[in-house]
Amino acid sequence: MSIPIYTYDAVIVGAGLAGNAAARELQKAGKKVAVITKLHPLRSHSGAAQGGINAAFSAKDSEELHMYDTIKGSDYLADQDAVAFMCNEAPKTIRWAERMGAVFSRTADGKIAQRPFGGQSEPRACYAKDRTGLTLLQTSYEQAHREGVLFFDEWYAADIIYKNGKISGVVAFNIRNMDKAIFNANAVMFATGGYARTYKINSNAHANTGDGLSIVARHGLPLEDMEFVQFHPSGLSGSGILISEAARGEGGKLLNSLGERFMSKYAPNAMELASRDVVARAIIEEIRQGRGVGPRKDAVYIDLTHLGAEKIMERLPELRDLAITFLGLDMIKEPILISATAHYSMGGIPVDIDGHVRKDNESFVEGFYAAGECACVSVHGANRLGANSVLEALLFGRHVGQSMAKDLDRGIALRPASLEDAQNMLDEMRFVLENNGTERVPELRTLLQESMTENAGVFRSEETLKKELVILDELEARYKNIRIEDKSKIFNTEMQEAIELGHMLDYARFIVDGALRRQESRGAHFREDFPARDDEKFLNHTMAYRDANGKIVSYPREVVLGRFEVKARAY
Ligand code: FUM
Repeated sequence: MSIPIYTYDAVIVGAGLAGNAAARELQKAGKKVAVITKLHPLRSHSGAAQGGINAAFSAKDSEELHMYDTIKGSDYLADQDAVAFMCNEAPKTIRWAERMGAVFSRTADGKIAQRPFGGQSEPRACYAKDRTGLTLLQTSYEQAHREGVLFFDEWYAADIIYKNGKISGVVAFNIRNMDKAIFNANAVMFATGGYARTYKINSNAHANTGDGLSIVARHGLPLEDMEFVQFHPSGLSGSGILISEAARGEGGKLLNSLGERFMSKYAPNAMELASRDVVARAIIEEIRQGRGVGPRKDAVYIDLTHLGAEKIMERLPELRDLAITFLGLDMIKEPILISATAHYSMGGIPVDIDGHVRKDNESFVEGFYAAGECACVSVHGANRLGANSVLEALLFGRHVGQSMAKDLDRGIALRPASLEDAQNMLDEMRFVLENNGTERVPELRTLLQESMTENAGVFRSEETLKKELVILDELEARYKNIRIEDKSKIFNTEMQEAIELGHMLDYARFIVDGALRRQESRGAHFREDFPARDDEKFLNHTMAYRDANGKIVSYPREVVLGRFEVKARAY
């Protein structure tokens, strides 16, 4: 079989905010760049970010306060040098986005408007109504296009070319017709997004199957802090579709079946604007104790009626539409039903501030970079503050693009690719297309999502996590016995979904393994059998990789501490 080999200075996988911003910087610096994306770029999940992007602008706010809130919100697991970099660069990033054409909502006197979000000392989230991510996605895509970046839309990046500590490209197939290609490059960046689709109720796009993480892990490279999965407090009941934290930022009240504003029990000071982990646990606890609402009693109310029609239409029009479309409830007239929804992955591919992918605690993979949700810098630690993810993606995407351009100028050798670099992808496609078993992919995926929600969700314990490991063993065995019906080459989404399920099964084990080892509760990781934080044993990052026998091996990486002293949490 002949497979074309294309050669670029840099290949980026993913066309959300991080991928587009990096591609623009590289192309502007005169590099030949290709972006491979399994979607059309404007369907990337960055576009689903609703509520805002943080930057300390107002007179009462400061970059220092933004750092403090982020580190406290992270339950002290964030690396303080990375947080300082992000918070210092945030105002410049907003100005840059604005100059590129992003239209932000404004105050009456023409300043960029900012709204309160959970865990923040000051209203800090700059926004474009409740379509902030979409606005920034359109701008970043336009600008990358304007610079002449080449986009390979609807191409599926199936593998990296990695040998002896060096990356030299990506192997991919065209979803439209199954054409294959090898993208040989001096530098590769992953901006492949998150993995909340591993859970049954989630706010993520169908595409967020975390392929990038397992591709990395299949080469024996480490993943970091995979146990920290964020559950957003407000997903629409049943579907998990995001109802932005902006709804609580604008004054939304959470009520249980008794009509109680129950956050007064869990976070009497911050109330609905406590950090996400606290509010998500409170909601699930109310439901567990029988005070849920809705037909299945598996939701709570968010009441926004007191805001009035004008404010809702001005600030939250998209949220109103979503609740009408998916629940038949109009938030102008009545409370709507919400519950916690898997939303964001704090962990991911370990990188330094300049996006270099770590091979271990001492060294980096030559030519390999990551940014955005798939990366773990780590600026979010154990729990991310709302409106810091859009910031991270745009800011680090841009910065890592610049850092790649500098490294390329200094010289990153190109190892010429050959046909044999496509072998893993060809084997995987052949397995999925030709395996003649009896198991169905959708059924296995549903079992994975349901069991992860049940056993490795908002609350976990040794018992539930061990149960999940047994389920993962069973699902892996059953995966070897799959069969798909569609053998065609045109938009074979059945094949793609089977490959994606293989990835989900791979990294789900990292989530569970990390959660089992971490015998404490910190941020989004809550162990019912170890409800306290244990800084003595666990104030460190979890690095984990698969050894040659497929066994997960784990080791710690020190948290970068700094001027913000580690303190007990107060609500
Ligand atoms: O609630 C939201 O609008 C989500 C924002 C975020 O995850 O940062």
